[in-house]
This record gives sequence, structure tokens and C-alpha cells, in this order.
Amino acid sequence: MDTNNTSSLTGFGAGKVILLGEHSVVYGYPALAGPLSRGVTARGEPSSKCQLVIPDALMTEQRKVLKAAFARAMAACGEPGVKVSFDTDLPLSMGLGSSGALSVACSRVLLQAAGRKASASEVAAVAWEMEQEFHGTPSGVDHTTSAMEQLILYRRKPGAEQGRAKVVDSPKPLKLVVVMAGARSPTKQTVGALRERQKRWTERYQRIFREIGLLASEGAEAVEEGDLEALGDVMNVNHGLLAALGLSSPGLDDMVHRLRNMGALGAKLTGAGGDGGAVIGLFHDTGPAVHELTRLGIRCFDSQLAGPRAEGTRGAA
Ligand code: MEV
Repeated sequence: MDTNNTSSLTGFGAGKVILLGEHSVVYGYPALAGPLSRGVTARGEPSSKCQLVIPDALMTEQRKVLKAAFARAMAACGEPGVKVSFDTDLPLSMGLGSSGALSVACSRVLLQAAGRKASASEVAAVAWEMEQEFHGTPSGVDHTTSAMEQLILYRRKPGAEQGRAKVVDSPKPLKLVVVMAGARSPTKQTVGALRERQKRWTERYQRIFREIGLLASEGAEAVEEGDLEALGDVMNVNHGLLAALGLSSPGLDDMVHRLRNMGALGAKLTGAGGDGGAVIGLFHDTGPAVHELTRLGIRCFDSQLAGPRAEGTRGAA
């Protein structure tokens, strides 16, 4: 075991938003995703054995999954002598990539403790071990976005070991309002239920996945051209198709319409969706919407995904 170089280790894993293409990305179509400034910070201190401090608040099942996930990452790094703890400013279980962010944060600390170079791809490879334990059959978009910390068009062909990510440059800042629109079921469950529907009605579901994949590519082009109106329109259409796949809820739909009425260029659910989760709205100026939502007691924050960095983050999550 390596007990060197562990006196002050920290690793950050960014949360993520999927702008376009959740769920269909699991079936090999592209998704457009970017990092949030919020995320998970892991810290490492020297220890005689490699271990993770599991927060007391977690339920038995969650503790088991987390332990198993960490064991895989730890094995991938040769079990360096480090005790890893973490904290987060990301709303949990909202479809904002908290497990991907945790996987990336822990992987960064483990790799540092093992004295290995922590390039984005090496971090992503270790984080992938954890993500598979958390999600069963993830596409890999969450932890890849977190590890790369850039806006990416991500695609993983079914059966392929690795996904491919292309960085998407935006000449304009992408200003989003992120709203927490109610508790939701675990991603694994929502993805699994959709898998059952698509097994039964494969042609119909594949048609919709294909269309969503096209939207993600069109959205990436709109970003590169700085055409925010077009990007907003693609987001709106994507939300409609996610609803058609049975992935929205009255609460999510209501929030999508609210954001559009507040001037969003486009709004949609983000992440797994289902019976709750997060909704995003694309705005020229996020200030008035964040102000109004906060006044109404609705949990939200704003985030800039690409282009020149904006000032701080408003709102409370
Ligand atoms: C979850 O953030 C995104 C999903 O597409 C699942 C995945 O890509 O693994 C719903």
C-alpha cells in the first residue's frame, strides 16, 4: 500500500446537466451535456488502509452500493493508503449527476494517492467503475462530463467499452436556470422501466430515440453557431419527446411551462426525469426568473455552461 503523498489530497467532481439527449444516449445516440460549477469535493488523508468515510445519513442499501462502488475504484488504483471523505453542494437525486460527480471526486483523490497522473481520461476510466455499480447500465455521459468539465457531445455505441466525447465550443454563454421540481425515483429504476417498454415496442421507441439523437446533434450545431433561439427550440421539442417516452410528470411539465412563460428560450426536464427531478430553462438573462422562483419558495439556481464565465451563482438549492 502506498501511504505517501496523501497529506493534502482533494478532488472535485462537477455535477452535470444534459441539455439534450438523455435516455436515448443509453441506446447509442448522442447527448449534449455540460458541467455545473456545483459538485462533490473529496478529500484524502493518510491511512493504513484504503477506505471511504460513508456519511451516517445514508440508508443501509445506499451504504452497500457506495461501499461496493468505492471498492471497484480502489482496486483499479491499487488500493493506495488513503482515507477518503466527501461533501457536496449539489442537490442530490435530482438528475444533476451527483453519483457521477462523486465517482469523479473519489477517483481523483485515489489516483493522486496512488501517485498516478490524473488526466481527464484516466479519471473517467476509474470513475466508470463506480458509475456501473451505481447505475447498472449507464451510458457514461454523467461521469465523462464531470471528468472533462466541458460542454461535450457524447456518444457510446451499445456494447462499446468506451464512449466518445467531442468538445463543443460556444461563442456565447449558455445561461441556465436549474429548478428542483420534486423528488424522483432512482435513475436505475426509471432507465429500467423504459428498457422494458422499448423491449416490447422496439420499433416505436427506437424511432423516438433516433429523433432525439438528431436533436442533440442539431443542438450542438446551434451552440457552435451561437444560435440560442434554435437551441431553445430543440430543447422544447426534446422535452416533448421525453414526455412521449413516459419520462415526464405533471410537476415537471408544469415547471417547463412556467419557465417558458418567464421568458425561457427553451425548457425541458434534465437527467432521468420520471416522477420528479430537475428542469432547466435557457435564458438570455437568468436574474429575473431566479428572483421570481426564489420569491415563490421554489428551489433553483443559475449556472453558465459555456462561453465566458459569468459572475457568481444565484439562487439557493
Ligand atoms: C442520467 O443522468 C442520464 C440517463 O441518460 C442515463 C444514462 O445516460 O446513463 C437517463
